[in-house]
Amino acid sequence: MTQLLGAALRGTGSCLPARVVPNDEFTEVLNLDTTDEWIRTRTGIRERRFAGSGESSATLGTDAARKAIESAGLTPADIDLIVCATVTPDLMCPATANLIQAALGCRHVPAFDIAAACSGFLYALSVGAQYVRTGAAKHALVIGAEVLTRTVDFTDRNSCILFGDGAGAVVLSGTPVLTAGVRTIRLYSDGSRQELIQVPSRVTPNPPPGPPQLQRLDYMRISGREVFRFAVTRMVELIEQARADARELGLSGIDVLIPHQVNQRIIDAALESTEFPADRVVVNLDKYGNTSAASVPIALDEALRAGRCKPGDTVLLVAFGGGLTWSSALVTL
Ligand SMILES: CC(C)(COP(=O)(O)OP(=O)(O)OC[C@H]1O[C@@H](n2cnc3c(N)ncnc32)[C@H](O)[C@@H]1OP(=O)(O)O)[C@@H](O)C(=O)NCCC(=O)NCCS
Repeated sequence: MTQLLGAALRGTGSCLPARVVPNDEFTEVLNLDTTDEWIRTRTGIRERRFAGSGESSATLGTDAARKAIESAGLTPADIDLIVCATVTPDLMCPATANLIQAALGCRHVPAFDIAAACSGFLYALSVGAQYVRTGAAKHALVIGAEVLTRTVDFTDRNSCILFGDGAGAVVLSGTPVLTAGVRTIRLYSDGSRQELIQVPSRVTPNPPPGPPQLQRLDYMRISGREVFRFAVTRMVELIEQARADARELGLSGIDVLIPHQVNQRIIDAALESTEFPADRVVVNLDKYGNTSAASVPIALDEALRAGRCKPGDTVLLVAFGGGLTWSSALVTL
C-alpha cells in the first residue's frame, strides 16, 4: 500500500513583464472608446503588464520557476515533475512545460501542460500534489504562465482592458507531516457553458472562408456580464465549502483568501455575501489585471514575500474561468 505524504508548499516565485500599460493607453494610443475612470470604477484595474518582444509563457514561466526553486532552497536538478498551466502556450507542440524544462536544465522528468483557463493553476496544483502525496515525485514544480494580451481584440473595449501577462510558480515537496501543505483541492467544470469565454484556435472545426491573414480566428471572446454572475456565485460557494472543509480538518479557520484576480466588484460581492473580512484578502489586480492561470500563483508569491501570510497560516486559493471551470485549494503554509 502506498504510504501517503503531505505536499508542502516549499517555494514560490513570480515574473511580470517590464512593460507597464496604464488605462490611459487604451484611450490615448489605441483610440478606444473608454476612460481610465470607467476601467478603474468598473473593474479596479489601474494598469497591467504586456509581454514584450522575446517574452512568452515559456520565458515568463521559466523565470518564475527559477525563483520558486531558489526560494525552496533547491536546484533544477532536484525537480521530479513539471506541470505548466497555460492557455497561451508558445507552441501547440511541444508543451510549454518542455520548453521550461530545457531552459532550466532539469533532468528527463515528466513535463506537460494543463489547459483549464483561469482555473489552470489549481488544476495543475492538484496534479502536482497527487504525485507528491503518493511519493511518485519528491519535488514537483507547478507553474501558471500566460500571455493572454496576445489573444485579445484591441478594438473590443469589453474585453481588451481586462487582461495582463505574467507567470507564477510553486514547488511542492513531500513531507511526512500530513497536516502541512495542500489540504484539500476542489475542481469543477461545466462544458455546457463553454461559449461564455472562448479563444478560438487555428484548428477550429469551422474556419471561416477567406485567406488566413484576414480571419480573426484567434481573438478571445467573452460574455462579461454572464461571466460576472457566474464568478460571484461560484466564489461564494467555494468559500462556504472551504469553511466547511476547514472545520472538518480541525483547522481554526481561513487566515488569508487569495482569489483569482478578475474584477474588484466580483471579489467585493463574494466577500459581502460570505461576510469574509476584506483585510484578509490579497488583491493585486489593480497592478496586473487578469493574468488567467498566473493570477493566483503571482498573488500567492507576492503575499508571502510581503509577509501578508506566514508559516502556519491556512490560505484559501480560489479561481474560476473558461470551461467553465471553478476551483479551490486549502493550503497550510
Ligand atoms: C466585463 C466587465 C468589466 C463589464 O462590466 P459591467 O459592469 O458588467 O458592464 P456591462 O457589461 O453591463 O456594460 C455596461 C456598459 O459599459 C460599456 N462598456 C463595456 N466596456 C467598457 C469600457 N472598457 N469602457 C467604457 N464602457 C464600456 C458596455 O458597452 C455597456 O454599455 P451599454 O449599456 O451602452 O451597452 C465585467 O462584466 C466583468 O469583469 N466580467 C468578467 C470578465 C471576464 O469574463 N473575465 C474572464 C474570465 S475570468
